Amino acid sequence: MEGEIVLGALAPHPPHLVYAENPPENEPNAECGWEGLRWGYHRLAKKLSTIDYDAIVIFSPHWQTYIGTHFLGLPHFESLSVDPVFPNLFRYSYSIDVDVDLAEAMATEASDAGMVTRMMQNPDFRIDYGTIVSCHMVNPNWSKPIVTISSQRSTHYYSAEVMGEQMHELGQACKRAIKASGKKVVLLSSNSLSHRHFVTESDVPEDMSKEHIYNHSQYLWDMRMIELMREGRTREMVQLMPEFTEQSIAETDAGGLSWLMSALDYPDYGADVHAYGTVIGTGNAIVEWDPRERATLQVSP
Ligand SMILES: [Fe+2]
Repeated sequence: MEGEIVLGALAPHPPHLVYAENPPENEPNAECGWEGLRWGYHRLAKKLSTIDYDAIVIFSPHWQTYIGTHFLGLPHFESLSVDPVFPNLFRYSYSIDVDVDLAEAMATEASDAGMVTRMMQNPDFRIDYGTIVSCHMVNPNWSKPIVTISSQRSTHYYSAEVMGEQMHELGQACKRAIKASGKKVVLLSSNSLSHRHFVTESDVPEDMSKEHIYNHSQYLWDMRMIELMREGRTREMVQLMPEFTEQSIAETDAGGLSWLMSALDYPDYGADVHAYGTVIGTGNAIVEWDPRERATLQVSP
């Protein structure tokens, strides 16, 4: 049977969210914090728990590779992940299973399309915190294998336009590999939207009286992008991506959201926004695309 993408989501990775959840894997303890985003993630996790799927494929800005796109290529990784900027918030013991067959299939398909790819087969490789935070929030019991795709940084090496073209090709290649695999797959783009942030931390990190968007123009940009998602105008959103990325220092520079839109064939149905909120001033949206919406649209008269 042909494989399919059963759900796609924008799933940002502020370590603060895992910190505020107080899971047993994370050492530091919080009183509370960032409830709007966390409850949005709970809704997305609840939806996922009702869907039959085999693996999660996640694109992370915090696995940066300057020569080509890399894929996790060993069946298991285990270690302690400490956030380099927030070691006071995130010291997470992880134990992660990887769908290596799916990873290799996507790498081969991308390579056949002319892209530079590589499998990560170093058993001591430390999984990036972007992968861990987003995957934890959508599936806290880690019941499914994952594949992480690296960000190859074309935005900084060349331009946001070059990155956009590369991510279009990568998304299409991943979609072809998933179809051929016969598997049901969930895709996550792990990134914030606008990404200017405060540079000092309050005494109590979860003090929500200090939390707000960094500036109004950044907020307006986030709302513009979210409006396009909700209206199913994702081709327009992707066209705006270079300008949005530059103007709001957005984490879309990594390419994940462009990759996701391509893999989903640029949804023309409305996305469901589970939450929007700020973390140290950055804009974060938890957004879901359910491809069955397209099927519904097509069969209606
Ligand atoms: Fe990040």
